[in-house]
Order: sequence, then structure tokens, then C-alpha cells
Amino acid sequence: MMTKNSPIGVLDSGVGGLTTVKELQLLLPKENILYFGDNKNVPYGNKSEEEIVSLTRRMIEFLITQNVKVIGVACNTISTIIDQISGDYDVKIIKVIDPVVDNIKNTLRKEKVGLIATNFTVNSGYYDKMLGDIKVYGKGSGELAAIVDSGKIDRAEVKDIVKIHIDSILESEKVDTVILGCTHYPIVKDIFEECYPEINFINPAFQQADAIKNYLEEKDLIKEEKGKIFKVYTSGDEEKYHVIMDMLNLELPEAIIQYND
Ligand code: DGL
Repeated sequence: MMTKNSPIGVLDSGVGGLTTVKELQLLLPKENILYFGDNKNVPYGNKSEEEIVSLTRRMIEFLITQNVKVIGVACNTISTIIDQISGDYDVKIIKVIDPVVDNIKNTLRKEKVGLIATNFTVNSGYYDKMLGDIKVYGKGSGELAAIVDSGKIDRAEVKDIVKIHIDSILESEKVDTVILGCTHYPIVKDIFEECYPEINFINPAFQQADAIKNYLEEKDLIKEEKGKIFKVYTSGDEEKYHVIMDMLNLELPEAIIQYND
């Protein structure tokens, strides 16, 4: 049975969802967190919808066996397809895209925004649909998520890729706000900011963590007891987790556990 002490589940194709874990650790410091990164299959952004659906089901079903009380889909690519399958599960699933869209519409009140994301996310048109009248200038990247996920981040190489993509957005339209629409990108947010100090780069992780907090409050599921557990399950190499967690200055997990089917 789900209780206040049940963990929050967070999933992503790889290390990107740790950006949401970071915000959860700040907003909900007492909560148990179980993270699932499918690093063996990253990047999802270049896969077909069928493959993404089936890989996502596997992660959700695993997290459900761990008795999670809510699942944060800390992956934009998965968030674009999750509505097709979320009705099959009893657990509440919270996407990374919808909360940030609400914030852009209601608080930032922008007329236009840039979007850098995976090819799948950009081509899905999900941000465009959700943002309605707000014009979206999107650019997909086929390589940036995988480079970040490798844990071997060559700043010069990332800088070159960032410049190509953001310049291409700016050529279409001079936007002052760009959504980092792949959870891997905020890990290198400082590189985006160094190249374009005049642009506001939005990291959707805070809004997602806030949406998770609101849901738990509403359902009276906020953990009150002291002591917490943070565990990471990965289908890939655990070494890179140390690198990325260090970059994000995360509270470290009790264990990084190899997940094999
Ligand atoms: N982190 C994921 C996202 O937010 C995608 C990376 C990938 O292509 O797997 O879209």
C-alpha cells in the first residue's frame, strides 16, 4: 500500500532526470527517492514512438513494484507520449513539460519562446500544442543528450553544438527566452549561459518538482518522518552517475544499482 513513506519515483532515458532529483532534494528534503535511468538505451530522442512506449512501460512497471507514490517523468521525450499509456497504471504520473508550460503562459507571459530539445520532442509538436498562442521556435539536437549522458563532457565540443543550435533558432526569430526542453541540457546550462548571456534559458525541473510537491500535499502524502533513502537504478554504466551528480552538486545516493531485464 502506498503511504507517506513510499518513495517518489523519477525516470529518464539516462542521467538527465537527475536535474529533477536536484530540485526535489531542495523542495522536499525528507522524501525517499528512487531514480531509474535507462542509460543502456539512451538517447530515446532518436527512437521510434513504439520503442519509446515499450521502454517507458518497463521503467514504470519496475517503479510500481517498488511501491512509489508518484512518478515524475523527468524526460521531455517520454512526456510527449506518456498520455497514451498513463491510464493503464494506478499511480499518478507527472510530466516535465506541462508544469513549465503553465509557468510560461501564466507567469512569464511570453509571446514567443525558443525550444532546444531532442528531435523527437521538437517533431512531436507537443510544446507548440501546449503553448497555444505562444509561438515556439524549435530546434532538435540529435547528439547533445548522448554527449551529456556519456559523462565525458568536452566543454569545447558542447559549446560548438550549442552555438549551432541556438544560432539557428535566433536566425528564425530573435527570442529572449529558450526552453531547455531535454532534461540532459540543464546539466550544461552554464555553457548555454556563457555563450548567450542575454538569453534566459529555462530549466523545467523546478516546475516539475513543484508540481510533484503540490500533488503530494493535495493527497496528504508528504513524508513527515526523519531519515530518507535515495537509490539509483541504471541499465547502464554507474560510473558516469558520480560525474553528473558531482556537476549537479546532488546529495549522494545510498546505492547505485545495476538494473538488468
Ligand atoms: N532526457 C531526455 C529528454 O528530456 C532525452 C534524452 C534522450 O534522447 O534520451 O528529452
